[in-house]
Amino acid sequence: MVSDSAGSRIYLSAPELAGTELALLRDALGSNWIAPLGPHVDAFEAEMCQRLDVPFAVALSSGTAALHLALAVAGVGPGDHVFVSTLTFAATANAVRYLGATPVFLDSEPGSWNLDPALLAEALDDAGRRGALPRAVIAVDLYGQCADLAPIAEACRRWEVPLIEDAAEALGATYRGRPAGSFGDLSILSFNGNKIITTSGGGMLLGRRRDWIERARFLATQAREPVRHYEHREVGYNYRLSNLLAAVGRAQLADLDRRVEARRAINASYRRDLGDLPGWAFMPEAGFGRATFWLTCATIEAAAFGADRDTVINRLAADHIEARPVWKPMHMQPVFAGYPSMGGTVAEALFRDGICLPSGSALTRAELDRVIASVRSTVGRTA
Ligand SMILES: Cc1ncc(COP(=O)(O)O)c(C=O)c1O
Repeated sequence: MVSDSAGSRIYLSAPELAGTELALLRDALGSNWIAPLGPHVDAFEAEMCQRLDVPFAVALSSGTAALHLALAVAGVGPGDHVFVSTLTFAATANAVRYLGATPVFLDSEPGSWNLDPALLAEALDDAGRRGALPRAVIAVDLYGQCADLAPIAEACRRWEVPLIEDAAEALGATYRGRPAGSFGDLSILSFNGNKIITTSGGGMLLGRRRDWIERARFLATQAREPVRHYEHREVGYNYRLSNLLAAVGRAQLADLDRRVEARRAINASYRRDLGDLPGWAFMPEAGFGRATFWLTCATIEAAAFGADRDTVINRLAADHIEARPVWKPMHMQPVFAGYPSMGGTVAEALFRDGICLPSGSALTRAELDRVIASVRSTVGRTA
């Protein structure tokens, strides 16, 4: 998909094959388990549970499906509030709306770009005193880095509000030595095409309560009652992961450690070769964890750099390099206009100035050099 010949397109986060996918796929096809259940689904769930040290998991068709079911099993429904990191991809907040609940958007802290734990504690204390607690909190681990999950989990525990960890972007990262995706009462992962491991499309819901994960599995299988004929007492969904895709996922998961190191090495190269630019600042790696740098992100202070974020992205695009702005915060999105928010200026500044650079684990040295040269050529260039 990506070659390093001059002028070929460099993608933000291209998928990379581990090399063992075909053997596992052949096994899945040969056994005729071409269904949204089967031995590779079971093994993929078990291997992920072991990797993240979480007892229960259900493999699903997407991270978005996992978020939807996480909120459903946590009991979220119409009239409820859910506190959500404002700086995230729309899927996080969309899932809240699927249940007819109201998202309340909370700002980031500058040290990790993730949910501000002090703001969350304050918001929960205030809501608790008013008897208006949210039904759940969703903390997002952005761009391969965990949020400050200990105080976030502590604030949720104090008020007995379920914490959902959206670790879609952070598989392979750790927080105080423990894996991303192991902190929420429920946690979700994504395996879409640009993630650190991919099944082309897929996701997983993990948790410590067997009853919650079993309920999610039930809802994901059209809520079919366990009787011989087709009996349905509630509305279900078709959200299970195919056994073929689970086979791909297993091959990819076995290669995860190498991928984390590859993305960290790319980040280190960018830091070395772009760190001296005026007004340029990389997303910090917070002292509480080890990031994967799924995407290497930075902010560009336009006055000091001599060009703004969009000028840099345009230059890169002209050089056939895909770069993107940092997520536009949910409280600024037209679709969520009118929903409550707390703070927001940190996330707004990160969106205004933030850029994501090509970071795929298959990126070559020559491609990296092209990105670096292209960024450096924009310094002092006005739009
Ligand atoms: C933070 C976040 N949450 C949720 C999702 C949704 O995952 P999926 O695309 O697998 O539905 C994504 C990525 O797409 C994401 O980046």
